[in-house]
Amino acid sequence: MLSREDNDLLTRVNGDAPMGRMIRQHWWIPAGLSSTLVADGKPQRIRLVGNNYVAFRATNGKLGFFDEACPHRGASMALGRNEDNALRCIYHGWKFSVDGVTVAVPTQPANEAEYCKHVPLKHYPVREEAGIFWVWLGEGDTPPKFQNFEFCGLPKDHVVVVRQKVHANWVQGVETTMDSAHLGVLHQSWLGGVGDIGLSSVNMAPVYHVEQKPYGFRYASVRKLPDGQAYVRTNSFVLPWYGVVAPGQSKSRGGNFFFAVPVDDEHLWYWNIVYDFERPVEITQQVSATQPESWPPLPPGPADDNWGQDREAMKNGHFTGFEQALGTEDFAVIMSMGPISDRTHEYLGAGDGAVVQVRRCLLSAVREFMQGQTPGFANHPQIPYEQIKPVAAVFDGDARWREML
Ligand code: FES
Ligand SMILES: [Fe+2]
Repeated sequence: MLSREDNDLLTRVNGDAPMGRMIRQHWWIPAGLSSTLVADGKPQRIRLVGNNYVAFRATNGKLGFFDEACPHRGASMALGRNEDNALRCIYHGWKFSVDGVTVAVPTQPANEAEYCKHVPLKHYPVREEAGIFWVWLGEGDTPPKFQNFEFCGLPKDHVVVVRQKVHANWVQGVETTMDSAHLGVLHQSWLGGVGDIGLSSVNMAPVYHVEQKPYGFRYASVRKLPDGQAYVRTNSFVLPWYGVVAPGQSKSRGGNFFFAVPVDDEHLWYWNIVYDFERPVEITQQVSATQPESWPPLPPGPADDNWGQDREAMKNGHFTGFEQALGTEDFAVIMSMGPISDRTHEYLGAGDGAVVQVRRCLLSAVREFMQGQTPGFANHPQIPYEQIKPVAAVFDGDARWREML
C-alpha cells in the first residue's frame, strides 16, 4: 500500500512531475519503430512522457526529433514538408534541418540569416538500435550512456519488436511485467505448449528471492514441483521500466524484454522484444499479419461491456475469456484497475514481492533526483547492461539455482 503522495510521485510524469523530469534526464527512451519512418516520408507525431514531439527521417536517412509545435506560432510540425534533409512548417514555411538548425525563415527577408540563429527550435538526440529509435529528452549536452542490452547488434531476424498503446498508467504496465505470480493464474490457458513455462501453473505460489543490482534488482521465482524438482525463473528489473523476462523454454539462448513506457499520466506503450542468439525468431502468423504497432490486441470491447470478455469461451474452458492473445489478458486487467491505479487501497501479500521492489527502486531513485543527485540506478557507466540475462531452468534440488542470480 502507498500513501496518496507516494502514488502520485511514483506514477505521474506530465509537466513538472519529478518522475517525468528524472526519466527525461537520465535515460534514453524508446520512441518508435525504425521501420515506420521512411526517408522524405510522413513525419510521426509522438507523445512521450507527457509531451508532444515529431520524428521524421530525412532524405539522407538520418532521424530528426523536434518538439511538435513549430517554434514560430505553434502549428504542428507533423504537418510539415519533409524534403531536402529538413522539415518545413506548412504555415509560414520556416524550415529546420534534420540536425535542428533553422535554415530558412521566408517571412523575414531582411535579416534572415541572423534571425535564423536565434529561433528557439528544440531538437533532441536520436539513435537507432534493434529496429527501434530512441531519444534523449534531457537538458544539457551530454546524453546518458546508452543501455546496450544483449539484444542490441543481433541480426535483424533474431529480434522481433511489437508494441501496443494501452489506456493505463505506465507503472501498471511495469508491475504486471515483474509480477511473476500472475503468470500461472491469469495466463494459464495460454501456457500449455509453450515450453517449460507451463510449469508456472503447476505451482501458483512461487517463492521470490530478490537480489539488489546496480540497475534495479534481479529475482528468482522458485516453484517447487510435485516430483521434488524446482522450476526457477530469473527475471530482472532495470530502471526505469525494463522487465527482462526468462524465455518460455528452459536453456534457450535468448529472452524477452517488456517495457512499459509512459505516453503520459494515463497511457503507456507496452513494448515486447523477443530475441534469440542461435536462430531467427519464429513469428506467429498472427503477429506477422498484424501491424507491429498494435500487438498484442487490445481487449475487444468497452469497459461497460467488461472489455469484451467472452463468457461463452469461459464456459468452454478458457480461464479469462480473452482469447485474442496472452497479452490481451494483461491489458484487460491493467485497464480494469483504472487509468491510475489507487495504491492507497491494496492488500499485498507474499506474491507481490517483486511489485513492492519495483516501487521501492523507482521511489528511491526519484527521491535522489529531487535532492539534485543522479540516481544510483542511473549511474550508467557502472552498469553492465549487456550482461543482464534472463534464465529459466528446472533443477533437481532447489539449491543450484542461486548461481543464476
Ligand atoms: S507556425 Fe510554423 S512557420 Fe509559422
Ligand atoms: Fe502477464
